Amino acid sequence: MKISPFSLLKSIIFIVCLIPCIMLIINLLNDNLGVNPIETLIRDTGLWGLRFLLLTLAITPLRIIWSALIKLRRMLGLFSFFYATLHVFCYLWFEQQFDWNEILADIIERPFITVGFFSFILLLLLAITSNNKMIKRLGGKQWQLLHRLIYLIAIGVVVHFWWMAQSKVDVSTPLLYAIILAILLLFRLPLLFKN
Ligand code: HEM
Repeated sequence: MKISPFSLLKSIIFIVCLIPCIMLIINLLNDNLGVNPIETLIRDTGLWGLRFLLLTLAITPLRIIWSALIKLRRMLGLFSFFYATLHVFCYLWFEQQFDWNEILADIIERPFITVGFFSFILLLLLAITSNNKMIKRLGGKQWQLLHRLIYLIAIGVVVHFWWMAQSKVDVSTPLLYAIILAILLLFRLPLLFKN
């Protein structure tokens, strides 16, 4: 079997994308996650979810430089979902011990959790409709429209981050991510209004 150079590159990128997860597991096993391991787990997985979301959005402007990059977009989007799922799972398990009444109260009463929750549900929707079978079933145009929700999700996640940080007074990191997102949205503005 002959492997194309691009498939090889894609496989290498796949392994690189797994490194943050592997590092978290190694640090967890070695008791090396700092004074508050639960907080580190929730924060790091959330940050990687957001980083992969922004990387996915960056593919479209970057493909002007190299058109083959578009073939990486789905994988990066699914990595965002993977890290977001780990993030939510760590929250449900370590912070709430699967106490569904507490979780529901949190979603209703804490606006930053409410926004995170809706962003996650939308991300889940994109993940389950990301395969070729779903593209065929929905039709290219409908699928494309649905997948533009990624912009709303990215805005939701930055708001989630901002509101969370606001309660701890320092919003400098979410501000940085908000600026990166604003730049990416500016690139996409003409396309958003194209039908
Ligand atoms: C049901 C959905 C979600 C819940 C319950 C949730 C929960 C949380 C919690 C409790 C924190 C604060 C951690 C702390 O105070 O130390 C947090 C922070 C964060 N979350 Fe979420 N989240 C959700 C969805 C998402 C999604 C979908 C993403 C990204 C794709 C995301 C990205 C982040 C980021 C970037 C932070 C800030 C990390 C930092 O402080 O460095 N969250 N989330």
